[in-house]
Amino acid sequence: VTRHLLSVADLSAVDLEAVLDLAELPEPPPVLRGRGAALVFEHPSARTRNAAELAVVQLGGHPVAIRGEEVGIDRRETAEDVARTLACFHAVVAARVAAHGTLERMAAALDAGGVGVPVLNLLSEREHPTQAVADLLTIRQHLGGLAGRVVAYIGDGNNVCRSLVLAAALAGVAIHVGSPPGYGLSPADLRRAEELGGSVRCHAVAADAVREADVVYTDVWTSMGQDSERGARLSAFRGFSVDGELLDAAPPHALVMHCLPAHRGEEISAEVLESRRSVVWQQAENRMHALRGILLFLLRQGDPAPARGGPAPSDGREER
Ligand code: CP
Ligand code: NVA
Repeated sequence: VTRHLLSVADLSAVDLEAVLDLAELPEPPPVLRGRGAALVFEHPSARTRNAAELAVVQLGGHPVAIRGEEVGIDRRETAEDVARTLACFHAVVAARVAAHGTLERMAAALDAGGVGVPVLNLLSEREHPTQAVADLLTIRQHLGGLAGRVVAYIGDGNNVCRSLVLAAALAGVAIHVGSPPGYGLSPADLRRAEELGGSVRCHAVAADAVREADVVYTDVWTSMGQDSERGARLSAFRGFSVDGELLDAAPPHALVMHCLPAHRGEEISAEVLESRRSVVWQQAENRMHALRGILLFLLRQGDPAPARGGPAPSDGREER
């Protein structure tokens, strides 16, 4: 069966460790030689698009980045038809979508057609799995290991937070979340993390969340697609900035992480973002290494199919 990566929890703990190791493989095999990778973006992107394009090139493949409006998911044709079309040409269909359900429909359409092409989530309103893999890679590189470490996530219980909490659960990293009332993770999210073996604590005061932190992590208060809530969010998140004062409550060795883009003066101060504790640029670069590891993992599942040699006719059903 084809493995898709829509949630980071589509990986097991063993899978996740394998992906992290693949991300650091010094000479990655060219599993995409002669093949394409479709990268669809319904929202803007700087890091994810560039990281994914370069990861595909490093694996010998040809990335095709596609703006949402070019294919018009559910406007020009259905999400299912977009997925089936892209899978005619590409070894993987990766997409950043406005609605997570779009990814699920794309994956279901490819499965129903027996197409054998994986769907990869490049961010939805629910999860950002490729980010979480890069985050764990960054933490592992800095702290030498993952199990038993403590990450404090300060701010919105959003897509980045959800994937980080689930990935941390798989890796044995404890998470202390600090969010204002109404903006934390849902009880269902917390249950899911616990089922994966995770240790998650929730705090209503940011300083309480960072006291034992090896890493203090934050993300924007208003995510893509939430612009109409921006005013309300700016006031709700007062007191949840990662600034010098908050870091005074954290252990002195604590690193600072942010998936970017950052809003200096909102969720993080300029001083902290630019400080020596901040590893945000390494974290950004690791998006590319993580994506390479993820693609290697998804494309080498089971018996890796040989690259298609040329323009041979196809009934569209064989494994790629
Ligand atoms: N962190 C991240 O996903 O950045 P982009 O939105 O620029 O891709
Ligand atoms: N939570 C942010 C992450 C951007 C990479 C968003 O969804 O806009």
